[in-house]
Amino acid sequence: MINIALPKGRLGEKVYARLCKAGYACDEYSPEMRKLIFTDEKRGVSYFWVKPSDVAKYVELGAADVGVAGKDILVENEPDVYELLDLDMGKCRMCVAAKNDYKEDPFRPIRVATKFEHTARNYYAETGRDVEIIKLNGSIELAPILGISDVIVDIVETGSTLKENDLKVYETIYPISTRLIVNKSAYKFKNAEIRALAEKLKEKE
Ligand code: PRP
Repeated sequence: MINIALPKGRLGEKVYARLCKAGYACDEYSPEMRKLIFTDEKRGVSYFWVKPSDVAKYVELGAADVGVAGKDILVENEPDVYELLDLDMGKCRMCVAAKNDYKEDPFRPIRVATKFEHTARNYYAETGRDVEIIKLNGSIELAPILGISDVIVDIVETGSTLKENDLKVYETIYPISTRLIVNKSAYKFKNAEIRALAEKLKEKE
């Protein structure tokens, strides 16, 4: 039996559809159901839905053998897991953005609003700039508009949120896509099953 942690939401539904095509469907599943765990004994697979930012934690702790997580979460939390496959889905990028007329002042720390505190801190340390991090949990774009930060470090997908709020990208930190991650001991003890799953997912790209 392989236990798979899926991120709740639209991306998770798409990944589940891809797993079904790869032969890992679950007869018990329906999109309307509110059950968090569903299993298919004959196909040897069990799924559970978790908050996207928690997938890597479930995999690291061994509750799930494999899971699906965005590169953003992996860079931010550095979970002790293997990254087995780039699923080439959920593509976006981690960026520094600010108001259209923003000019960096080199004589004081940059005030950076973000959900991705560790990512932002590392990025500015690497580029040798002092920062003051303002940790927020969502609607990060509001911070420079309301004057509590100079810039934001956030995910940009289509760019519409920035555009509609008179903000723009100044720096791209790294590209993001969805990854198949694996618990380290499960990779040892269920190696054949997990590799077969990864191979089948690759075929269905
Ligand atoms: C993400 C991100 C941006 C938006 C970017 O927000 O934080 O706000 O998507 O997408 P776009 O470039 O296509 O406009 P999310 O929907 O996850 O909400 P939250 O960060 O406000 O919680």
